[in-house]
Amino acid sequence: MMIDIIKVLIVGIIDIWVIYTLFNVLYICFFRGVPAIPSSKETLHNLEKILLKYKTSDDFVFYDLGCGNGKLSFFVAKKYPSSKVVGVEINPFIVFYLKCKKFIFGYKNVDFIRANIFKMDFYKLKPDFIYVYLGDSISKKLSAKLKNELNFGSIVIGNKFLLPDLKVVDVVKYKTLINGPLRVYKK
Ligand SMILES: C[S@@+](CC[C@H](N)C(=O)[O-])C[C@H]1O[C@@H](n2cnc3c(N)ncnc32)[C@H](O)[C@@H]1O
Repeated sequence: MMIDIIKVLIVGIIDIWVIYTLFNVLYICFFRGVPAIPSSKETLHNLEKILLKYKTSDDFVFYDLGCGNGKLSFFVAKKYPSSKVVGVEINPFIVFYLKCKKFIFGYKNVDFIRANIFKMDFYKLKPDFIYVYLGDSISKKLSAKLKNELNFGSIVIGNKFLLPDLKVVDVVKYKTLINGPLRVYKK
């Protein structure tokens, strides 16, 4: 009985990953998007250090812009159950997958929305933290938008690619070369 349950779980997990990867490939082929490469384990560890240093309370609002497979959004939501985490993703297939995963695992404080980050109004959303791991040119374009729309208290955490219009206030260097550095920005 127990072995059967474990087998079903393993097959289920593999199925979800196959479907997720297929949707990702389809989207990149047809819509020429940024690939949904997740942040590394070291990034999650460094992000945790940044949140500890810069959060003023545990009930912060965290936006993961271009959340990909949602690993980072789920990580923050799990570490800080009083926070509100929003993963924004342009790829509708991935958003569908993430909504299913949220439902299956019963996460209450994370939401996934299908949106183009360039059509969002950050002034109204008032995020405490924004996490960005996108490509080079898309990060530059986003940087100008964030400079215009963010309020002074918001903190932007950028992985690898520079956000040239914002002011760097902290840099976390990495032991490995997979991601990073993580830069902390303010308006
Ligand atoms: C490199 S992945 C980052 C995944 C996640 N943030 C992480 O760090 O693990 C970038 C994601 O951004 C999404 N993306 C690209 N352009 C976007 C846009 N304009 N609006 C919303 N999402 C976008 C892509 O579909 C992709 O899944």
